[in-house]
Amino acid sequence: MSAPRLRVAVLASGRGSNLQSLIAARDAGQLPVDFVAVGSDKADAGALQLAKDAGIPTFTLDPKGFAKRRDFDIELFRQLDASGAQVLVLAGFMRIIDGQALAPWVGRMINIHPSLLPKYRGLHTHRRALEAGDVEHGASVHYVTAELDGGPVIAQARIAVEPGDDEARLAQRLLAFEHQLLPAVLKLMAEQRLDLIAPDRVALDGKLIAAPLQLRNGELVD
Ligand code: GRF
Repeated sequence: MSAPRLRVAVLASGRGSNLQSLIAARDAGQLPVDFVAVGSDKADAGALQLAKDAGIPTFTLDPKGFAKRRDFDIELFRQLDASGAQVLVLAGFMRIIDGQALAPWVGRMINIHPSLLPKYRGLHTHRRALEAGDVEHGASVHYVTAELDGGPVIAQARIAVEPGDDEARLAQRLLAFEHQLLPAVLKLMAEQRLDLIAPDRVALDGKLIAAPLQLRNGELVD
């Protein structure tokens, strides 16, 4: 009998192209996971429709319905626990999550961030890379910890900044690599090849990695 597939929930606030890349990888037989829930803080998020079209259960939590940020987060994790998810992927989830509420998920929750962390935590990463005159830009997938965009980086995709890049073009060019990076990292999790070694080290196949894995020709290399 084959091993049970990893049960994954995804949180997204926006259009959901990264979620789509995960669904596509699963459908292509390249990602052995089951998506058990897609949640959002925005009722009109494109990601919710993509999930519905793919037959994945969805839920929306409106932050306005909660007096305190932590109350929202507690309800969020209650729903995620109820979904049976083992791993949680933040794919464009635009909320800061309370550190205490997320603590039980540390090591089981990843986020994709459009910069070469530790550069440019937070918003407007493409603009900031251009303004700094960076010759290289990229995206990172990291374990989520209480520190915003600050958890240990698992893997990165790098692209050269081109002369014709403005914020939108750079973001769009990078997105194509995000769509390879996130499924590749989740696949490693599904194959139980990744571990967070507290507090801030990442292990692949039981060995600490000295630097984030790099995406090359669609594959992650050490
Ligand atoms: C991506 O750029 C991701 O890196 C960032 O938010 C964006 C989400 O895009 N965290 P999409 O909704 O997956 O298309």
